This record gives sequence, C-alpha cells and structure tokens, in this order.
Amino acid sequence: MTVWEVDRENITFSKNHNPNLKLFYHYTKVTSTPFSMPVVQKIIHRTLKKIDTKKEKIRIIDSFAREYRQLGCITISNDLNPEFDTMYNLEANDFAELMLEKNLQGEIPKFDLCFHDPPYNLGMLKTKYEGIGQTLPQWQCRNMWGRNKNAIGQIIKPGGYVISLQWHSHGYGKRRGFEKVEVHNIEHSGNEDKYNLQVVVEKKVQYNLIDLKDLAPTNEG
Ligand SMILES: C[S@@+](CC[C@H](N)C(=O)[O-])C[C@H]1O[C@@H](n2cnc3c(N)ncnc32)[C@H](O)[C@@H]1O
Repeated sequence: MTVWEVDRENITFSKNHNPNLKLFYHYTKVTSTPFSMPVVQKIIHRTLKKIDTKKEKIRIIDSFAREYRQLGCITISNDLNPEFDTMYNLEANDFAELMLEKNLQGEIPKFDLCFHDPPYNLGMLKTKYEGIGQTLPQWQCRNMWGRNKNAIGQIIKPGGYVISLQWHSHGYGKRRGFEKVEVHNIEHSGNEDKYNLQVVVEKKVQYNLIDLKDLAPTNEG
C-alpha cells in the first residue's frame, strides 16, 4: 500500500478553501467492504481519537451499515437489505428521518460520528448487494442521498464528524454546516479502469439554533 500526504505548496486552492484541510493519496486494493480496508480503518480510528468522549460512550449512526460494526461504541445501524443483522432495515431516507424525529421527541440523543457509505452508483445498486437494487424505484437509484444527509446532518453534535465514502468528495458540505478536515484519494491498485474512492472526513462547525440551545446554560437550570 502506498500513502502520500499531498504537498500543499504545489496545489492551487480556491480563495474560499479551508486552510486546515489535509489531502492524502493512497494506492491500494479497494474492496466491497471498504471499512475493513486498513487505510479506512486508520481513518476511522484517527477520527474516533479526536472525539472528546470515552470510546464506549461514542455514539455512531450508520445508514448503510452492511455488516460493519465499530466495536466498543454505541452504534445505531441500518441497511435496506434484511439479510444484514442491523438494528433497522429501512430505506436510508426513511431511517434518517425516523432518527431525526426520535431526537426531536427527546427519545434519542445526538451522535458523535456518522458513517456514510452508500452504493456508489446505479450500476452497483443493480448488480451488487444481493440484487436489492433490482426492485428499487428509479428515484432511489438516481438520488445522491440528499434527504438522508439533510436529516442526519441535524442530529450530529456540534464538533462531531461524518466519514463519507463515494466516487466524489462532496461529503455533507458547508450548507449542512460541515467543514472538510481530510480528503483521501484512494486509487485502485490492479485496476486502472475503476474510479478512485474518495474518503472525506468532515467536522460539524456550524451550530444551528437547536444545537446552541443544547450547548448554552439556560435560566431553567
Ligand atoms: C457500500 S455498502 C456498505 C459497506 C460497509 N460500509 C462496509 O464497509 O462493510 C452499501 C450498503 O448499502 C445498502 N443499501 C443500498 N441501498 C440502500 C438504501 N436505499 N437504503 C439503505 N441501505 C441501502 C446495501 O445493502 C449495502 O449493504
């Protein structure tokens, strides 16, 4: 496996770019369970260390979990495929909106970390994942999971993180209150005709009114 940290001197950034962003390049085998890849494991563990909470109290939400578990943390997992032993087997948008609703009703607290690892394109949705994509309506195959991100973005704690895996580096984005911390460009070793996998780590930096209410001490004690 090859890993380079990119030399910032030789990159042109647009003027609104976050100066703290770290860029990495990796050349390694990419698998269909990317969270078991050593490079992704390292990214996850580095991010967990940045969270100022004991590991067993860290709350993770994963809408597309497959069989992955971050052991030792509190993980709420979901996968549309009922063959996977996740806590929920819902469509990702419905799952995210249910979690938001539960949070607003005071049933569940916010999360420290979100894993966002959906199918990367329509082709994968149709051919992989035990064929579940064969029966999905077209909107679902085309969407970029915006509804899912809108809901989950609201239930990540201020200062919490999202780790997104896609064939692009958009992640959750500024509009949802997130700032990129790391972008990893992972080139498939042994298959030069495949897209690169992009792993984006983002931190929630914009506090909305609900978050401020959570943070600020109130007169009610
Ligand atoms: C890339 S895999 C996740 C892999 C996992 N992170 C790992 O490394 O093992 C994407 C998962 O999303 C699930 N999935 C596909 N469409 C979905 C949808 N609309 N809602 C929820 N889950 C979906 C698939 O069943 C599949 O297990």
